[in-house]
Amino acid sequence: MPTYIVLIGPPGVGKGTQAKIISEETGLPHISSGDLFRENIKNKTDLGLLAETYINKGELVPDNLTISMIRERLKATDCVNGALLDGFPRTPNQAEELEKLLVQFHGRVNHVPYISASSETLIERLGGRLTCRAQGHVYHSKYNPPKVEGKCNLDGSDLYIRDDDKVETIQRRIQVYFDQTSPLIEYYHKRGLLEEINGARSIEEVSTEILKLIGTRQA
Ligand code: AP5
Repeated sequence: MPTYIVLIGPPGVGKGTQAKIISEETGLPHISSGDLFRENIKNKTDLGLLAETYINKGELVPDNLTISMIRERLKATDCVNGALLDGFPRTPNQAEELEKLLVQFHGRVNHVPYISASSETLIERLGGRLTCRAQGHVYHSKYNPPKVEGKCNLDGSDLYIRDDDKVETIQRRIQVYFDQTSPLIEYYHKRGLLEEINGARSIEEVSTEILKLIGTRQA
């Protein structure tokens, strides 16, 4: 039976950073809805052009577009043993659609690590984030700086500041999270799947806890 892990938490708490580590450790493919949208924006697809108008304002992309994008991604052969979802679902409606979708793949959501941190921490992390142009590797000017300024350690490409990491957009994204995404906490708590993790610690401490959690719980 495939294993599906859903990472939830506010913008900038470290979902993407942790997802890359957990993906390497478990072999499950890392599926980030934000990365999929950014790839579409980079390639100027119809989906990318539409999604960009929402993302740059800090708003959620409409559910129908997001759900069909994830549905296609989950059908890929590398997801045969499951997947690690980062940034999806982001609303209770998306979570319900995911449940229905996973039934088709003979699976269900097995673990929901919920990474939390204060708004001050989120603003500081997003304000210092640097992203690699080629493959989206993530750094932080203070907490995880690249070895060579402005260059990705892994592929040497330029690092840039995401358009939605501007101060006013960060505030809006945090507000949208509290209004539209935080109901997921209750949604998964009721299903006995939610495990809260204090994200205000080092990258290594957080990943150690998540790995312990997904390794010791019954799938
Ligand atoms: P998305 O890309 O998913 O953005 P997000 O959820 O806001 O999350 P982020 O990528 O900003 O942060 P993160 O938690 O991954 O943190 P990271 O690891 O980078 O989505 C972007 C947009 O796409 C959305 O706003 C929306 O418009 C749209 N979208 C996406 N999914 C959607 C959906 N399902 N429905 C509708 N619309 C959707 O870390 C942040 C920084 O902190 C980095 O610099 C990192 O180095 C640093 N850091 C990480 N962990 C630590 C630590 N423990 N200590 C110190 N620094 C740390």
